[in-house]
Amino acid sequence: MREFIEETLREAGDLALSLVNGVRSERKSDRSLVSEADRQVETCIKERIAGRFPDDRMIGEEHGAAREDHEQVQRLWAIDPIDGTNPYLNGLPSWGVCIGLLEGGDVLAGGVYLPKLDELFVAARGEGATRNGAPMPRLAPMAVDNQTVLLSPASRKRFYKIEYPGKSMAFGSASVHVIYAATGSGVAALVDRPYIWDILGPLAVMHEVGGGAWHTDGRPLDLTTLAHGEKEERPLFFGLRENAEKLFPMIEVYPRPKN
Ligand code: IPD
Ligand code: CA
Ligand code: CA
Repeated sequence: MREFIEETLREAGDLALSLVNGVRSERKSDRSLVSEADRQVETCIKERIAGRFPDDRMIGEEHGAAREDHEQVQRLWAIDPIDGTNPYLNGLPSWGVCIGLLEGGDVLAGGVYLPKLDELFVAARGEGATRNGAPMPRLAPMAVDNQTVLLSPASRKRFYKIEYPGKSMAFGSASVHVIYAATGSGVAALVDRPYIWDILGPLAVMHEVGGGAWHTDGRPLDLTTLAHGEKEERPLFFGLRENAEKLFPMIEVYPRPKN
């Protein structure tokens, strides 16, 4: 499984890289960007998965769900062909291809490939996680001071307020944030209301280094609530539980978005 995910991520990432120059883009109904590359890369990934695992369900950001007629199927692949379309279109390196596999609410396997940085992360449940083939160490507790990095969104925060004493850094891609929280480069990643395709691939890696995904009140994320393409309603923390706990008191989530 790891090998299949790794090969698929590389093929998809290389395709995305080959298309980046002069690719056509437009705005979606939610005003976010999408390019021809996002659609082609998603098709490439889905064809590979369908060829190898024809009975599994798939959900992707651009083309939605296939096999809606097979609701009873337990295994679901979630695909974000390019997470970080904005950096992708603006010549920045912080975007990635994400693939994750869910079975009955648990992450079975997944990974993220950052083609511009040539960083490939892949994990399978119980088998550990690798970064460019090398085993990743488990996360350790971290002290939070004025230099500690929190990976968090940059855009105007209408849904929450956080009083964080360290350095908030934003790279324009939720999966990049989660994956670098899994390497221990930051104390955690704060992700604002993701879809399952934004998080399932990097979460497979996060689990294998001892971390998880947490609501701001401390509840663990139940992935089945996002399995049909629902948007998570609240921001989430990704990281070691012990580290995330230090951040829970710092965030205030608004019951209704602020203008
Ligand atoms: C977006 C990026 C962004 C996050 C958005 C996502 P996309 O994904 O991850 O950092 O703030 O919520 O939708 O559109 O580039 O795949
Ligand atoms: Ca995304
Ligand atoms: Ca995307």
